Amino acid sequence: MRDSFGREITYLRLSVTDRCDFRCTYCLPRDYRGFATPEDWLNPAEIERLVAIFASLGVRHVRLTGGEPLVRKEMLEIVERLGRLDALDEISLSTNASRLRQFAGDLRRAGVSRLNISLDSLNPETFGQITGGDLHKVLDGIEAAIEEGFRPLKLNMVVMRGINDHEVEEMIAYCMQHELTLRFIETMPVGLNGIEANRHYVPLKEIEARLRQQYSLQQAAMRGSGPARYFRVGDSGLVIGFITPQSQHFCDTCNRVRLSAEGDLHLCLGKENRVSLRSSLRQGDSDEAIRDIILAAVDRKPEKHSFDQPETHILRPMSALGG
Ligand code: GTP
Ligand code: 5AD
Ligand code: SF4
Repeated sequence: MRDSFGREITYLRLSVTDRCDFRCTYCLPRDYRGFATPEDWLNPAEIERLVAIFASLGVRHVRLTGGEPLVRKEMLEIVERLGRLDALDEISLSTNASRLRQFAGDLRRAGVSRLNISLDSLNPETFGQITGGDLHKVLDGIEAAIEEGFRPLKLNMVVMRGINDHEVEEMIAYCMQHELTLRFIETMPVGLNGIEANRHYVPLKEIEARLRQQYSLQQAAMRGSGPARYFRVGDSGLVIGFITPQSQHFCDTCNRVRLSAEGDLHLCLGKENRVSLRSSLRQGDSDEAIRDIILAAVDRKPEKHSFDQPETHILRPMSALGG
């Protein structure tokens, strides 16, 4: 499956719920009420059918996202169903880890091979201010994932000036100690809180330059389908990654599309272009007809995101698409 710019689509980011037990400042307004209604969520059988169609079109990696995917009650059933699809090489999950102590073992047995975990601060107060959540639960969830043998285990840190940018070195030490991979992410002016969050934007070149004064950084390879650029830190085993949607966009190598919990196929995180697959499913369209709708949508995938045009600002919270 190729778009009109020749990019091959092999990676599906599948949001299983737009709900979340956290309220990260860059993602969800604290008093947000606009969540989708459960009748509108794709059910596990609908998800399985759609993913099988995507797999028949060349998707090899499905990443489950949210909101927070582990708040969806049918989460394990969804993973089990996707685990039966032989054409998929990988099922992964992006989580805030608040419920990972409870779920890590079941996820592994159900067929999740990789976890990415959001962690913006190691200071309980700062963590609470950013997420509204409890750092200790998250650290306990990370430990559970390590105990279950999830490798590589990647941490995502959104770097924000004046909020957590002074914690970069501490995060590096934590990840060295626990043999984790650490990725730094630039804020994105996307969603209901994105513009506000972007006041704290730090171009990651700054962090890279700061780290180069302390360590040698050698380009490195890392398993994964996303846009991070990776470096090995000195002769430690640590690999760090930079995700730079603002300072150095990666749209020319984009390999992904996104499916919302309500079954909307989104062609780009930074644009509104989408098509509803739920309506096709529920009006009884054949696999063949749905395949054609997906191919036509992919053909219209935008060339790139443009965060610098305020008139195109996206009015959904980031949680609706899971990043
Ligand atoms: P792997 O590389 O497979 O480990 O995963 P990933 O980096 O694709 O997944 P993850 O959910 O951990 O995403 C990390 C960050 O990258 C999130 O903040 C995403 O919003 C961001 N990201 C991923 N794909 C895109 C994209 O197409 N556009 C933009 N702007 N950001 C993206
Ligand atoms: N800017 C940058 N990253 C964001 N995420 C959510 N909202 C934003 C934003 N406005 C990130 C989370 C998580 C990933 C799935 O998306 O930190 O790591
Ligand atoms: Fe929840 Fe993730 Fe959004 Fe934070 S960034 S509120 S953990 S969906």
